[in-house]
Parts: sequence; structure tokens; C-alpha cells
Amino acid sequence: MILTVTPNPSLDRTYEVHALKRGEVIRAETERVDPGGKGVNVSRAVTAAGRRAVAVLPLGGAPGALVADLLDAQGIEVAPVPIAGATRSNIALVEADGTLTKINAPGPELSAAEQELLLETVREQSPDADWIACCGSLPRGLAPSWYADVVTRAHAGGARIALDTSGRALLEALRARPDVVKPNAEELAEAVGRPLATVGDAVKAAEELRRWGARTVLASLGADGQLLVDDAGTWFGTARVDAVRSNVGAGDSSLAGFLVAGGSGPEALASALAHGAAAVRLPGSVMPAPADLDPAAVSVTADVPVDRVLEEAAS
Ligand SMILES: Nc1ncnc2c1ncn2[C@@H]1O[C@H](COP(=O)(O)OP(=O)(O)OP(=O)(O)O)[C@@H](O)[C@H]1O
Ligand SMILES: [Mg+2]
Repeated sequence: MILTVTPNPSLDRTYEVHALKRGEVIRAETERVDPGGKGVNVSRAVTAAGRRAVAVLPLGGAPGALVADLLDAQGIEVAPVPIAGATRSNIALVEADGTLTKINAPGPELSAAEQELLLETVREQSPDADWIACCGSLPRGLAPSWYADVVTRAHAGGARIALDTSGRALLEALRARPDVVKPNAEELAEAVGRPLATVGDAVKAAEELRRWGARTVLASLGADGQLLVDDAGTWFGTARVDAVRSNVGAGDSSLAGFLVAGGSGPEALASALAHGAAAVRLPGSVMPAPADLDPAAVSVTADVPVDRVLEEAAS
């Protein structure tokens, strides 16, 4: 089983509008409501891959109840942590030309008792977990060192941790030695405080994260592919995508692909690439099933093309 932890989940409302005009009443053509959050996406991707996932989520108010119902209808197991505040609603506006504008709400503040219950729920679920994937931003009330605490507690209980977060929450967690971190190019550039122009720049940045405590760095570089750096070596891979439909959740799908394939080494990297590419080929945040994967489009090499210029340079 893979346990996912999403401290700041959301109810995602997507509206299709003709065009955005500031200061006007905009009538939406369609409205969609989805359970949201990076760990929720990882749970959906793990489940789509045919493996069991349990999602630990603080949930509150009517939006929280709706998130629980929607996940239940999708066959996603939830270990809810009831909170007094209401789960946030995030708004996405999609214009006719495909432009996406998002408004992410800050979310409720967790009380000390709720924070403790969240940690306790993770602990209760951990014995069955091959991996604990901690994903996304921290809500108000959780200290930037919160993920570091989760890593330390998980290791004490013998579980392995994969972490997909950014900024201070990522930097502070490194000293607790997470087993895997999965930054994208921007998150990696921000963590080391310098831009990444080439694959070699990304390798150096990943090595730095390892010096600061990460055991394995799986860096996703958007259309440029992915990089894996661990004790055993460095690998780079790409997966051909002929028609990009939606990169929403591609990173979350990649992390799920990496973990369901064992969470280490070049085979797991190949699985991460296959899942990322398949997610990009599918609409919206639909997660790939095994039949959607195209392993023949994936290539992985230990001969890392360090001089390759990144198409999506990160600053
Ligand atoms: N435009 C693209 N063309 C081909 N593959 C892509 C493209 N975008 C993403 N991918 C695949 O998906 C993987 C993850 O994408 P990316 O690095 O953008 O993740 P991310 O920014 O963490 O995404 P998110 O957090 O929104 O899920 C990439 O490493 C790549 O394998
Ligand atoms: Mg991401």
C-alpha cells in the first residue's frame, strides 16, 4: 500500500469561460468539481495503476464532505482527519484559447489538536505502507519543519518517505533525510538559489540536495524529461509525447509511477517517465491506467547529456 499525505487538500472548481475580462461578470459555459491536492493526485494515480493507496486528508465543512464523497465515488480510500475549519476551494478558469488562470485559497488553519491528530493518523496507517508520499504545500498552522517531523517519525516506524514539496518546507525536511524528493525544475532552481539552463545544471543542483540530506532526488524537468540521482549513480530519461493534451498532475503521476515500480533505480525512473508521458497525453488531470502506458517511448541512460540545454529553463 502507498500512503499519501496531503496537509492542504482542496475542492477544485473548474469553469470554462469564453475569455477573461477584469471587472466584468463572466458567465461560465461549464462547471466541474474535483477533489484536489498533490497527494490526492498521487493516490488517484497509484489506484489507476492497480495498486492500493490510502489518502490522509484533513477535511472540514461542506467542501470537505464533498471531497470525501467524490473520492469515495472514484474508489479512492481516505483516512480523514476531521477539522473545524472548512476545506479550501481552488478556482481554475479555462479560456477558449486554453489559457488557464488559477486562484488557490490559503485554506483553513489547523489547531494544535488537529495537527496532532494528523500526525497520529499518519502513524496509525504507516505499518501497512510500503511508501509514505507527502505532497504539496503546508496549511497555516503547520510549521515549515512539519515534513521533517513526519520523515523522522516514519523512519522510526520503518517506513520510507517520498516528499514532493517546495520552498522552506522542502529545505527543512532535507535534514531528516527523506528517501526520495521529487522537485520539478523550478522547485529545484529555487532550492539551490540559481537558475538551471542545462541538464548538467540540474545534476549539480540534485547533488546539492543530496548533500543537504535527500537520499534520492527524482527531478522532473517538464518536456525535457527526468533525472534520477542516488547512491548508486545518475540517470537521465526522456519519454516521447506526440500530442500534449494536459500537463496537469504530470509530476504527481510520475511520482506514483516511480513508487509503484519500487522507488529506486533506472527501472523506477523509466516507470516515472512512462506515467508522466501518459498523464500528459490524457485530458485534464486523468491518471493513466497500465493500458495507457507506452514503454517503447521511454529511454533511460546513465550517459547523462550534461550539456543539453533545457527547453524549459528554470530560474
Ligand atoms: N510538455 C511535456 N512533454 C512531454 N512530457 C512531459 C511534458 N510535461 C510533462 N511531461 C512529463 O511529465 C513529467 C512531470 O512533469 P513536470 O516536471 O512538469 O512536473 P510538475 O511540475 O511536478 O507537475 P505537477 O506538480 O503539476 O504534477 C516530466 O518529467 C515528463 O516526463
Ligand atoms: Mg509537482
